[in-house]
Amino acid sequence: MDFIAATEPMHLNHLLANFGYLVSVVMFMLAIMRMGRVKTARSGNFLAALAMLLAVVSSFVEMGQIEPWFIVGGLVVGGAVGAIMAKKVQMTQMPEMVALLNGFGGLASTFVGLATFFSLGGSGTLGQMMKEGGWFGGMNLVLTLIVGSVTFTGSVIAFLKLSEKMSGRPILLPGRHALNGILLLAPLALGVGAVWFVQGVPLIAAVLILIVLLTFVLGVTIVIPIGGGDMPVVISLLNSYSGIAAALAGFTINEPVLVVSGSLVGASGLILTQIMCKAMNRSLANVMFGGFGAEPAAGGGGGGGEYVGVKSSDPESVAMILADAANIVIVPGYGMAVAQAQHAVREMANILEEKGATIRYAVHPVAGRMPGHMNVLLAEANVPYEQLFEMDQINDDFRNVDVVMVIGANDTVNPAAKTDKSSPLYGMPVMNVEDAKTVFTMKRSLGSGFAQVKNTLFECPNNYMVFGDARKTLEEIIKALKED
Ligand code: TAP
Repeated sequence: MDFIAATEPMHLNHLLANFGYLVSVVMFMLAIMRMGRVKTARSGNFLAALAMLLAVVSSFVEMGQIEPWFIVGGLVVGGAVGAIMAKKVQMTQMPEMVALLNGFGGLASTFVGLATFFSLGGSGTLGQMMKEGGWFGGMNLVLTLIVGSVTFTGSVIAFLKLSEKMSGRPILLPGRHALNGILLLAPLALGVGAVWFVQGVPLIAAVLILIVLLTFVLGVTIVIPIGGGDMPVVISLLNSYSGIAAALAGFTINEPVLVVSGSLVGASGLILTQIMCKAMNRSLANVMFGGFGAEPAAGGGGGGGEYVGVKSSDPESVAMILADAANIVIVPGYGMAVAQAQHAVREMANILEEKGATIRYAVHPVAGRMPGHMNVLLAEANVPYEQLFEMDQINDDFRNVDVVMVIGANDTVNPAAKTDKSSPLYGMPVMNVEDAKTVFTMKRSLGSGFAQVKNTLFECPNNYMVFGDARKTLEEIIKALKED
């Protein structure tokens, strides 16, 4: 009887927690599926947040004798910090926020690895000290530290570059590939030493801390040679690493939900990285090791290169042409995000629709600085989903379009990507905007985009530059349309 009384609550906790884990894993999977479509992405995000809450609560239930105030306090403080960050962050700062969150994920895994070691006790090598898993468990713990620590410092550098707290230019250290090789192999070798040869808690602790310090440096040295513009790809990769670190930590502490959710993040991050590389026509190796952006590219340069025959227009003239156009396509780019012009874009589109025009939005897969950047901004301005077209759906139809409004896009509408073999953009699929009858390109100058190359669209006979901040220009166009 005593035995039953002593074990029953524990048993119930365990059952409840396992049920909670199972439900949260299913919720995570459904959430990822929902995030694949613009329409369902918000609810997918919410579902994932709920799944995370359930997983956290389930693990506390499993632990049993924990103070409820500890749970509530942790949830309130963590939730409040997250809510404030989410409220304060600007849409253009989203990639750097994601970078920081990835970094914290990696650091958390490192802490889990270290805490697991310090709670082991016993004697002998790390392999012998691991109660479960033996050498496998020991190597798993070492890998948790390595992947978690690289993710942490790599993400911090990505955050600093994106937030312009350090230069976005690649920093190319001499012998960097050899240095990175050493910084990767040394922690692995030290890990093997800790698992099989080094004896006793103090010595193993010193080795593990050395592993963490070396991989902290590795995180810095692998990310500093990568240009600021490539950071979104790096962030996606680091996101994947943070998932892998969490999955490894899950093996270390025997927590299946961490293994499953970490694997989901790891796999989806890798797939996203692949998609982004493909859309930019670059290999992952080129992004990671190419030092892209260290030198201004040929045929362009920071200032955009030499231009001949560029024509420009003004908001009033643009409004006049738009008022008579029947078929209009809006092509947004990074500059729309910088100018926060999405609401003005929508307002202009509403007026033109009232005048009888058909409005479509053409979205390039890597327009902006993060996947889905333009979709998110346009959705924020309540642009109907039916008006959004992916590049492949609309690219052959530009020849039937009266007016294309390029709003802060540059590389993604550069025809040189189709013809100039020396261009770093060569081979990247771009929007055929120059096929339209008239193109208005709205940006502040003839300056280059992310790839730092000259844009031959600006010289096309049917293209007119409309210089100025995109939002201000649009507001002037709207004013002129209303006066029309
Ligand atoms: P970009 O080529 O980056 O050009 C953006 C243009 O916006 C700039 O030339 C800039 O010209 C203009 N601009 C900046 N602020 C503005 C403002 N306030 N008002 C009006 N214009 C403004 O843009 P894109 O066409 O979207 O191409 C994206 C690039 O980023 C691609 O090369 C892509 O490969 C790269 N990239 C994208 C991603 C993802 S996932 N989206 C990831 C990594 C890299 P001015 O200075 O003259 O105004």
